[in-house]
Amino acid sequence: MLIRPGATRSGGTSRDLPNSIRREAGESGMTGGTPLTTVLALVLGATFALQQAGIAPRASVIEQRVDALLARMTLEEKFGQLQQLDGHADGRSRPEHVELVRSGLLGSTLNVRGARNVNALQRVALEQSRMRIPLVFAFDVIHGYRTVFPIPLGESASWDPEAVEQAAAIAAAEARAAGVQWTFAPMADVARDARWGRIAEGAGEDPRLGAVMARARVRGFQGDDYSQPDKVLACVKHWVAYGAAEAGRDYNTTDMSERTLRTVYFPPFKAAVEAGVATVMSAFNDLNGVPTSGNHFTLTDVLRDEWQFDGIVVSDYRSIVEMINHRVAENEADAARQALAAGVDMEMVSRSYVTEGPRLVKEGRLPVAVVDEAVRRVLRLKIRAGLFERPYAEESREKATLMRPEYRAAARRIAARSMVLLENDNGVLPLSPSTRRIAVIGPLADDRANMMGNWTGDGRAEDVVTVVEGIRAAVPAGSEVTYAKGLDLDVKTLSGGGQDDPETSASIEKAVGIARAADAIVLVIGETGAMSGEASSRTSLDLPGRQLELAQALVALRKPLAVVLMNGRPLSINWLAEHAPAVLEAWFPGTEAGHAVADVLFGRVNPGGKLPVTFPRTAGQAPLYYNHLPTGRPPSETDKYTSKYLDVPPTPLYPFGYGLSYTEFRLADLQLSSDTMRGAAHVTISVSVENVGARSGDEVVQLYVADVVRSVSPPVQELKGFRRVTLEPGERKRVEFTLTREDLSFYNRGMDWVVEPGEFSIRVSNSSVGGLMGRLEVR
Ligand code: NOJ
Repeated sequence: MLIRPGATRSGGTSRDLPNSIRREAGESGMTGGTPLTTVLALVLGATFALQQAGIAPRASVIEQRVDALLARMTLEEKFGQLQQLDGHADGRSRPEHVELVRSGLLGSTLNVRGARNVNALQRVALEQSRMRIPLVFAFDVIHGYRTVFPIPLGESASWDPEAVEQAAAIAAAEARAAGVQWTFAPMADVARDARWGRIAEGAGEDPRLGAVMARARVRGFQGDDYSQPDKVLACVKHWVAYGAAEAGRDYNTTDMSERTLRTVYFPPFKAAVEAGVATVMSAFNDLNGVPTSGNHFTLTDVLRDEWQFDGIVVSDYRSIVEMINHRVAENEADAARQALAAGVDMEMVSRSYVTEGPRLVKEGRLPVAVVDEAVRRVLRLKIRAGLFERPYAEESREKATLMRPEYRAAARRIAARSMVLLENDNGVLPLSPSTRRIAVIGPLADDRANMMGNWTGDGRAEDVVTVVEGIRAAVPAGSEVTYAKGLDLDVKTLSGGGQDDPETSASIEKAVGIARAADAIVLVIGETGAMSGEASSRTSLDLPGRQLELAQALVALRKPLAVVLMNGRPLSINWLAEHAPAVLEAWFPGTEAGHAVADVLFGRVNPGGKLPVTFPRTAGQAPLYYNHLPTGRPPSETDKYTSKYLDVPPTPLYPFGYGLSYTEFRLADLQLSSDTMRGAAHVTISVSVENVGARSGDEVVQLYVADVVRSVSPPVQELKGFRRVTLEPGERKRVEFTLTREDLSFYNRGMDWVVEPGEFSIRVSNSSVGGLMGRLEVR
């Protein structure tokens, strides 16, 4: 675990103490002034104990500062610290914020940003409120602030945690310069259902890849010390299982076993907590009937008690009062009481804490110690983040920091690293730069805003390089780059808009005419940015509108053709997979989209990304994921009564971990340091990977493990390690993985975390299919 300044190594004050206070207060039903004294006595006692133990002296100083503040606060001011309200989309605060801040009834905002806006409101807190407690300013900085990087799903496709960390670090530097001190990222929700629009915001379907990416993002945002002027507080979200929304419909119910929760959905969150994430966001969904914003098991038993998380939990947007819609709360007072008691410290946007809280305490329905503990966490965070010392943003720094040339360069590099080559028949890619006439076709070919995907921070369309521009910049003088849009694409297309429209037919025909005159065609199609993300679930994974028709007409010209796909989720591109000469998955690449696409199309960058999600053949297969459990009747082509469909093969169109390159790699010589694992020993697994093609390129070597037989049905395979390596033509490297007992452990029938002796199969490969096999025996 990373130790932040002021954090306690043992979690002493943050874990044991608050929970004991809570229990004590809950049992005796204390309200009013008594518990505060108890709290103070206990906190001072713990502080003294910590000093005696010589652990993290700053932590005790922080606790003393918190105590001093708490002792002077009214109940209303305490609830004020637990309130977060949103500003205008353009970054301005709302007029009512000023009055609320002045009265001590607001502790945080979201969306208020820009050094000036932030400073103006902060000044009210520090100069006009009684307690002079600084506000903490939050914003959704998801994949970039002003310089926009690929959507998180795309970044994850790089399988390159260092690149992902760098992107988050740049986002943090820009955001902080603009007064943002807290981002609501990373989203660590495992997503196995491509219909769910928010699959775009996470790292995909795998808990291990998700954990690596969550850790990288937390490190990038926070660094070793989030009080530094180029860092922000991170917030891992949405705790928890939000990605398992039934039927892929956003905000829908989730229901799963504790084993699945712990094995699949928890690991990325745990990794974020271990990396020192400062905050956690509770989710919208209910989990097994209990809303996650009022769920004591997930918020307190697991997060606080098991994992010793000592930061703050913020609710999602109005998720506390939505417990009324979930029909577990009678009214806002009931919702507030349940959320606080379960462990949600700060309320986003709805106002049940401030409006109902004081009365709940006065009537003895909510122990004040619970409130004090939540306030304590908020104050502790503000102190740790250095907000009392450096509450303001430097206005001069803002402009100098946003969109630095080196940030753009990083965005270009990371975007290219996140692209996945899905098809490349007869080496049609890379295109020769001397191709004389290139037709760039498609609704996304000369588009700016959509290149940024969903959640664009403060990204601006005018900063974006389109694909047409990127290609024009890449070709030598004398080449001709033509463009036709082909058709319009917007969210209405999804419900059939423009289907029989004669204008669209004419426009497709015109595009085909332009392409006919070219030597090569680049077709840029997919989804708009708004077709994925929050509240953007789809029942179909097909290309929206008439894009397939456009593609079919262009492929029929029988010219060198590359499809560049942009999308926030896996798409079912069966026809393209079979007929398009080349398909490049580019996700939404961000500000430098056009340059990055051109880098890959012309081979300046050899694509090395791999799919972080399975691509189904049809939405009807969802949820489709590689690490599923076996069935008693594995699919068989010859036996009808096996687990399959009548109309479509049960296999994916493209498997998890898949991706091609302009060169070829060969894996050979798989070795295990020992074919048995005994006691606490670990085993080293190594393989050699050789570039046997003619170009320099990257391969992602992947390690999968499967328990052969155990007491609880095992996933058919699980990713346990990966490494992205760069190799020159003819170069060979040895890649090593360490496999520990932990990697082989699972929750048995009694929910104990164990390794059962027996055989494990090992596979090292360049996707979740194929590769070299080995065996390991555990004694
Ligand atoms: C709702 C979303 O679910 C969450 O991810 C986001 O951080 C908040 N809105 C704030 O914008």
